[in-house]
Amino acid sequence: MCGIVAYVGPKEAYPILINGLKRLEYRGYDSAGIALLNSSLNVYKAKGKVSDLEDIIKDTDLHGTIGIAHTRWATHGEPNQVNAHPHYSQSKEIALIHNGIIENYASLRKELESRGYVFESSTDTEVLTNLIEDIKINENVDLFEAVRIALNQVIGAYAIVVISRNDPDTLIAARKGSPLVIGIGTDDYYVASDATPIVEYTKNVVYLDDEEVAQIRRNNTLKIKTIRNHEKTPYVQQLELNLSALEKGGFEHFMLKEIYEQPHSIRDSMRGRLHADLGTVSLGGIIDYEQKLITAQRILVVACGTSWHAGLVGEYLIEDLARIPVEVEYASEFRYRNPVIYEHDVVIAISQSGETADTLAAIELAKSKGATILGICNVVGSSIARATHAGSYTHAGPEIGVASTKAFTAQVTLLTLLALRLAQLKGTLSKSRFLQILNELDRIPEKVEETLKTSEVVTRIATQFKDVRNFLYLGRGYNFPVALEGALKLKEISYIHAEGYPAAEMKHGPIALIDEEMPVVFIATNKGTYDKVVSNIQEVKARKGKVIAIVTKGDTIVKGMADYVIEIPETEEMLVPLLATIPLQKLSYHIAVMRGCNVDQPRNLAKSVTVE
Ligand code: M6R
Repeated sequence: MCGIVAYVGPKEAYPILINGLKRLEYRGYDSAGIALLNSSLNVYKAKGKVSDLEDIIKDTDLHGTIGIAHTRWATHGEPNQVNAHPHYSQSKEIALIHNGIIENYASLRKELESRGYVFESSTDTEVLTNLIEDIKINENVDLFEAVRIALNQVIGAYAIVVISRNDPDTLIAARKGSPLVIGIGTDDYYVASDATPIVEYTKNVVYLDDEEVAQIRRNNTLKIKTIRNHEKTPYVQQLELNLSALEKGGFEHFMLKEIYEQPHSIRDSMRGRLHADLGTVSLGGIIDYEQKLITAQRILVVACGTSWHAGLVGEYLIEDLARIPVEVEYASEFRYRNPVIYEHDVVIAISQSGETADTLAAIELAKSKGATILGICNVVGSSIARATHAGSYTHAGPEIGVASTKAFTAQVTLLTLLALRLAQLKGTLSKSRFLQILNELDRIPEKVEETLKTSEVVTRIATQFKDVRNFLYLGRGYNFPVALEGALKLKEISYIHAEGYPAAEMKHGPIALIDEEMPVVFIATNKGTYDKVVSNIQEVKARKGKVIAIVTKGDTIVKGMADYVIEIPETEEMLVPLLATIPLQKLSYHIAVMRGCNVDQPRNLAKSVTVE
């Protein structure tokens, strides 16, 4: 969603800010803006892309060594130039950028209006800007103090950076519920909503905690307080991010690069955890919680979108291998439906970004009831990783394409390791069966590599079906979540309506949709309910539907029935999702490219959904 970048130091700020905004484009946005402070405080904004902002300001004097910049994903007020950030305060002394939502903005705005403030935009952000100005004037305090006092009146989530034309050496930054990271250079400072705009300048960073305010001054001082006025010592950490991970590396799109990274990202998720030589699995991050997990009467999984699909695979794995009951919940539903949560429940929160607002709220709810919370996150140091009692990182590397690909397979890999570890501890698998699965998991990266070679047939299918209006994805058992994920991938990047169903549910409704126009993707690999799925394929063929089937290499039965087949290597049933997902990602990608869609930044979508 919205993105923040700010700079203070001896260098020209504009190139750093505009480059930073481009790095943040992957988060999804609809307008962009920048404020530069030289002899005056100038704000420039544009609806649309960062390149639109560049066009607007190309003939302007953009000199200045301190500035703030923002990409906005509209929440309050339509996406237009007026509502874009930064927002000036009424006197134009202050400019502010903001990620998050100020929930009590309406009452604050009313109060400020009664004191003569006039608002130009419909945003909650402009309200906060004027509140800070009002406090600064009436309480006669400096900007740091005015921001601190103002934030005590705010209900909601925020990451903000503020500058004042009367203090040209200072940035004030603060966060609650929305991430903010401060980069410490040799003689300068960077602030951003995630590390991507910072990594090319410095690896030394401080992550602000909730309700912390930072005063960042040009003369190399960084002061942090809580909004309750307690001083904090900045804790400097090293970024593990590499710049090359943020570049396309010769691929046309980040999504394609990330699809092709999967043999490596899956291996990275297993590194140091799967010991094929010793025949063991260890998950260091949750080692202290293993007893809790194996004695839990149930495990709850909370997640959204693709991460929820991974959670569903996790449910099948943990129940199948370790015989512990698992319930998988949409975090957005869980948080509002008064769920029954016991103190001895273990909740696993899954999130690529680690910033998803609904998942964070579900965690807080479960925590308040005394449950143990474990996290499976990709982004190191993210809010969810920090809010959980313990957890394991997926180590898939930065995922820039909005459509999640390598994060999904890394999550499933980690859940497979977890299920195996729990099975080992509980003794629910024989030693030989345990080793069989473990050794096969170890071979999965090579099999993913092989699966990635199925390009010719995938592009043929994409060419054939790129103009259809609907798609159906069907699978059973472990392949049901794969069907859901395949459908989500297609709809989010190609805008073709697609639905995923358990194949047997087809008879209970979706079968009515099937005619000669309808492509139906079956995940029909050779284990589990294969015979049943074959019957489902027959039912579709009988109604003249077009069948695209993902089959195990060497399959002859489905091959004889389907219009198109994509072969994947033979593997254990519970590991099929790691392979079958790959051609579905590629199919979505090629269809979207052929339709001329913006694959990496699909319309209306954001990479991390930091508002509910
Ligand atoms: O960062 P998270 O994994 O918590 O994000 C959850 C969903 O927003 C995300 O998976 C979304 O569905 C993706 N666009 C899927 O490709």
